[in-house]
Amino acid sequence: METTLIIFKPDAVQRGLCGQILSRFEQKGLQVVGIKLMQISQQLAATHYEAHKERGFYPGLVKFMTSSPVVVLALRGNGAIAIARNMMGATFGSKANPGTIRGDLGVSNSFNLIHGSDSPEAAERELKLFFAPGELLNWSRNADAWIYDHAGGKPE
Ligand code: RTP
Ligand code: MG
Repeated sequence: METTLIIFKPDAVQRGLCGQILSRFEQKGLQVVGIKLMQISQQLAATHYEAHKERGFYPGLVKFMTSSPVVVLALRGNGAIAIARNMMGATFGSKANPGTIRGDLGVSNSFNLIHGSDSPEAAERELKLFFAPGELLNWSRNADAWIYDHAGGKPE
């Protein structure tokens, strides 16, 4: 099973969209193994987005991400990283397809509601940045018996 790091960005929190967005992931069958409200520090935002340091949008991105509280989540499931990225939609709200989170809930390109890890390496790095070891819970979900087919001995 993969675990991915999701952030409901300041615009999602301020617009009261966290519940709706979380519902989509719960309905899909992804399991919440970590969740908290936090204010991202300048340093954490800089580290998280360090790959974009040289980009023109970087100062604005760091300012945005530190401007107001965010909700960070760790979501688990088979293929959770790609599933979450597909559900988020394209980066720009103006371009994201209907049916996706960014496509349905926003029009802005930089205020795009949500972050999701884009690879297993990024997920591992980002989960460590945002969650202390004890903050992620390995809990068994009774609904898993119906969310996955376990006939082959592992969840499919
Ligand atoms: P994220 O990392 O937040 O999940 O978003 P992403 O992979 O879809 O997009 P990425 O290229 O990694 O960009 C990170 C965030 O920077 C802001 N951005 N603004 N105005 C612009 O041209 C621009 N380009 C990127 C967005 O908030 C984007 O999610
Ligand atoms: Mg990205």
